[in-house]
Amino acid sequence: MCGISGIAGSKNIGVPLLESIKHLEYRGYDSCGVAIMTPYHIEVRKNIGYVDEVNEREKLSEPQGEIGIAHTRWATHGGVTKENTHPHLSCNKDFAVVHNGIISNYMEIKKWLIGEGHKFHSETDTEVIVHLIEKYFPASKDVENAFVMAIKQLEGTYAIAMITTNEKDKIFCAKRESPLVIGLGDGANYIGSDFNAFIDYTKNAVVLDDDEYAVILRDRYFIKNTFSGDIVRKKITQINWDSDMAKKGGYPHYMLKEIYEQPQCVINAMQVDKGLIRKLSEMIMESNRVYLIGAGTTYYVSLFSEYNFSSIAGIFTPAISSDEFKNLGEVDKDSLVIAISQSGETYDTLNALKFAKSRGAKTSAIVNVMGSSIARFADHTIMQGSGPEICVISTKAALSQMIILLMVALEVGVINKKLTIKNKNEIERNISMLPELIQKILNEKSGFIHTIAYKFSHINNWLYLGRGKYYPIALESSLKMKEVAYIHAEGMPAGFLKHGTIALIDEKLYSIIFMPPKSNEELYNLSLGSAEEIKARKGFIIGFHFGEKGGVERLFNEEIILPKAQEVIAPFLELVVAQLFAYFTAVALKRNIDKPRSLAKSVTVA
Ligand code: F6R
Repeated sequence: MCGISGIAGSKNIGVPLLESIKHLEYRGYDSCGVAIMTPYHIEVRKNIGYVDEVNEREKLSEPQGEIGIAHTRWATHGGVTKENTHPHLSCNKDFAVVHNGIISNYMEIKKWLIGEGHKFHSETDTEVIVHLIEKYFPASKDVENAFVMAIKQLEGTYAIAMITTNEKDKIFCAKRESPLVIGLGDGANYIGSDFNAFIDYTKNAVVLDDDEYAVILRDRYFIKNTFSGDIVRKKITQINWDSDMAKKGGYPHYMLKEIYEQPQCVINAMQVDKGLIRKLSEMIMESNRVYLIGAGTTYYVSLFSEYNFSSIAGIFTPAISSDEFKNLGEVDKDSLVIAISQSGETYDTLNALKFAKSRGAKTSAIVNVMGSSIARFADHTIMQGSGPEICVISTKAALSQMIILLMVALEVGVINKKLTIKNKNEIERNISMLPELIQKILNEKSGFIHTIAYKFSHINNWLYLGRGKYYPIALESSLKMKEVAYIHAEGMPAGFLKHGTIALIDEKLYSIIFMPPKSNEELYNLSLGSAEEIKARKGFIIGFHFGEKGGVERLFNEEIILPKAQEVIAPFLELVVAQLFAYFTAVALKRNIDKPRSLAKSVTVA
């Protein structure tokens, strides 16, 4: 969960190198640093804090050089200290390394190297890599050879980049289970944990696979298999994101910008290649068991979609949190596992897919980042086309995933004869009204939601309650509140309340109820029943509802009234309101919106 980058150029690379880790900062932001090859030595500048803060103190772009590597860290091994910040140097300072991943056998290597006289300056697993390379270099005086010998000794996961005074014009890099891409520019080549590292300079990229390493010069590069040493030839990927898409565009935070991009994201999701939707639907129909997996938000996306597959397609597709998949998922060659992942790099989800594949199951993925590990690993992949999601908190990506899976549920519904084509077309027509309705909320309700959020920003405990599909919406909404505002919010099925949690309710406990439209009378009345239970115990309720009279005005202390909507799209509107509510609460509390404490965009550890 760190970002690594590097540039081999023909003029000073200080500024673009600094920019590259700014663009990767969402991957980890507790400390950062650069190593730049000056005419005399490798200059390392690093410290703890956000990139801008560290740059202010350390002047990261000041060293003059044409080759350099950089890192932005999310600590795993060793606390957040200057010593543990990357890059790490060898004893003789001739080698500098940055790393993303976890070296699981670092302790035994470290012990051995200490015995051999190496001095360590950090508690990180990474530092063993640079000492290993230093250890192997003198025998052959061949950097590539020493680099590969060191890499072969590592167990665990890594994306590594190294520079050395022994070959001043090259970056050596290697990958296993942590992402690494090469950018091919004009007069310079780049590396990065993802395309964002170099998107301002080139749209031509090459994606490294596991157990490959590359040597990068400013005008050429080659890739080899780490174990066979064979040259690997790869096709060049054209990146279809542009750098403006990854900028704030006048919004105070990426989170708000991304919430506001949702009308367009729905349109993009609806335009996903019909052939891919059809193929996935057929895979579902051919399988005996189908699982939806994801982590955090994408687990909630899975759970929401499980409801759609049951109600629309007549197929039970259990949602499992990917970190628990091995403990719960019963898979064989007749199973299908559908992974949902914005980044395409989440360790738990990738690992669950690998487990499924090892049992002969088929795999599919819905992913936002092109060339990511999950996108490439799955047998069948749908790129969701939401554009870069920079805020660590997922909003637009999640909504898009829900829409795509809804389209799949509709297709399966037709194949499974639960829906006629006419029904399907009608539902699709309803979905096509969603962008306009979301826009209406953004235009007309934002100010009001802002007021309500400020008014209640002192509340420390919330219950988020919903029934049916509104239950996963409540869960996802509560996660937004937790992660961006650091406020406790517990999502649960409204019907579950009476089985225990109701004991908590008094005038100090605040709840949000996600009401369905009245057209779903049974669910509507049951949800009102839950509100009655809270009211009877003097609990405070904010109701999200669609403006229908008959009970709600008496039960809710505050209400957020949404534009009238068909049942199939109503939950999405409530989700958008909840995203804004969490966002404005966090603004009121002066939280670090785009980079909340302890979180990272891409969780590549177990
Ligand atoms: C929540 C959030 C996380 C991610 C989760 C999975 O806002 O961002 O819960 O959803 O870590 O990440 P991806 O989708 O990249 O696999």
